[in-house]
Amino acid sequence: MKKSLYSRLIGYTLKYKGLFFLSIGGFLLFAVADISAVEWLKQVIAYINETSTNSFNPLYLAVFLGVIAVIRGIGFYVGNYFMANVGLKVVHNLRRDLIKSLLYQPMSFFDQASKGEIVNRIIFTTNQITGAATNALKIIAKEGFLLIGLFVYLLYLSWKLTLVILVIAPLIAVIVAIAGKRLRRVARKIQDVMGQVTQVSNEIALGAKEIKSFSNESGEEKRFEEANDENLKQNLKMESTGNLTTPLIQIFVAFALAAMSYLALTNLEELNLPSESFVAFFTAAGLMARPIRQLSSLNAVIQRGLAAAEDIFSAIDRAPEKYNEGLEINKDLEGDVSIEDVSFSYSEEGDPVLKNISINVNKGETIALVGKSGSGKSTIVNLLNRFYDNYEGKIKIDGYDIKKVKLKDLRRSISFVSQDPTLFNDTVKNNIAYGMPEVTDTAVFQAAREANAYEFIMALPEGFDTVIGDSGDLLSGGEKQRVAIARALLKQSSILIFDEATSALDNESEKEIQSAIEKASKNKTTFVIAHRLSTVEKADKICVLENGEITQTGTHEELIKEEGLYHTLQGKPELTDEIKIEEVVDDFVPTIINEETSFWNEMNFRNIAL
Ligand SMILES: Nc1ncnc2c1ncn2[C@@H]1O[C@H](COP(=O)(O)OP(=O)(O)OP(=O)(O)O)[C@@H](O)[C@H]1O
Ligand SMILES: [Mg+2]
Repeated sequence: MKKSLYSRLIGYTLKYKGLFFLSIGGFLLFAVADISAVEWLKQVIAYINETSTNSFNPLYLAVFLGVIAVIRGIGFYVGNYFMANVGLKVVHNLRRDLIKSLLYQPMSFFDQASKGEIVNRIIFTTNQITGAATNALKIIAKEGFLLIGLFVYLLYLSWKLTLVILVIAPLIAVIVAIAGKRLRRVARKIQDVMGQVTQVSNEIALGAKEIKSFSNESGEEKRFEEANDENLKQNLKMESTGNLTTPLIQIFVAFALAAMSYLALTNLEELNLPSESFVAFFTAAGLMARPIRQLSSLNAVIQRGLAAAEDIFSAIDRAPEKYNEGLEINKDLEGDVSIEDVSFSYSEEGDPVLKNISINVNKGETIALVGKSGSGKSTIVNLLNRFYDNYEGKIKIDGYDIKKVKLKDLRRSISFVSQDPTLFNDTVKNNIAYGMPEVTDTAVFQAAREANAYEFIMALPEGFDTVIGDSGDLLSGGEKQRVAIARALLKQSSILIFDEATSALDNESEKEIQSAIEKASKNKTTFVIAHRLSTVEKADKICVLENGEITQTGTHEELIKEEGLYHTLQGKPELTDEIKIEEVVDDFVPTIINEETSFWNEMNFRNIAL
């Protein structure tokens, strides 16, 4: 597992082989320059002692030092810059792959996933991966070359003394192994905790209205504090383990140097080392401390990166919605919809939300779904859009089983205005033309007119070019809905689904929306989920839902004569009126969902990334 994980990571790095090896070359130069500097010192002492007959003259020595410095500088720049270049590209590609996988996740994934964790993964965790993907390789190249070079140089100066160094190597390896294990455990925990910190911060930023109205500032403070405390604790653990290995290694190296110096000084004759070699040997041996320390921290870097990689790759590998599979339908669907004995539950253990639902709608008809909050109205349209497909029974459009049709083709045929439409932080025009970049301005204006949105849009400071803030904060609830309707109309699909918002609109807005839907539903198969009688009366067919079951079907005239929920709802301004309390709760939930989704869509996290 570990191995395949690492080779996959290296795969991301090796995509940039050229840059990568250029960087390695840079580090090689850097190491050669460092060792040459010691040799320079040796030559200087040899010159002073006049021990060597063929020692260099001072001019050569001076030039030599200058050249070393320049080579070292070039090596440093080339090595570090190109390795960073590869590292940034790896993060860039990982983020791209993550987003690609995220966008094609089924709805059920978004229901369950914490938004904070998703954002955290894209921003924080991907960065951690560079640790394993490039930083580790950088240390291996930069410090590894230096260490090997120094070792060879030491052997050349005195192989006997060098043997002593070999004795401490296994000891260091043991310490590194122990610390590494612990670090990986801590690193994984830090990722989780960081996700919580992001999650709570997002919710605080986005849920200001709810926090204030429920006066839950202290509650949020506490919730954040818990995540923050845990984060601190885990980071401290990480620092403590990480920083303990460094001094331990330094102490080992110093002990080894001490032992060597004793051996060397007491056996000077046998060693037969000239003084310049003696100085060079200890200088070079001392220089080994840094690469050893760096290489030993390598494990921590790799462990942190691997913990991150495990998380990222499992996210990337999550099975996507099969967007491009299935029956291709090149023509536009006409819009004959038949729902046949459909039962559905959001979770395997949960109670069914829909029970044996059967609805038949001919093309061009308008069907209204009414029922109390939670009775399953939105769920039916979720299934029509195939946001979920683990239902029993069949849903057919024009006779095609929608499970077998290409998702892309199916969704192209459906215009959907959800209960809490999301507007993106973009201009009104782009919001209406969402997903349809090639439409003309005239078409956008026309759609806005049909949605009764044209007038108020023109009254905005910059008309259609006005940027509507986060989740369309600058617009009222009714205006947002009309923009969403315009967007659905522009799509010109044969099936229109309108999930009316539960929040009470003023009479004026309601009428505007009402007439917009009526205009829009002409010649289209229209599903209207309605909370108001006025919306329903003109429908060709009304289905009354109670606890996931259809209890009544018929036209307004028929239903009003029957005993049943529809009859009892008469005379109430809102069809869901009798459940006022649920209504309030219901209203509250979408607010959160809406703001969360919009947070998402507007990619506020761009700011965090910078
Ligand atoms: N994504 C989901 N995951 C799990 N359960 C869900 C999900 N969405 C809805 N439910 C549950 O399914 C049931 C039906 O919900 P649905 O949204 O279809 O109701 P609704 O009739 O549209 O209500 P409203 O009028 O309030 O919009 C509810 O009990 C709800 O709690
Ligand atoms: Mg609903």
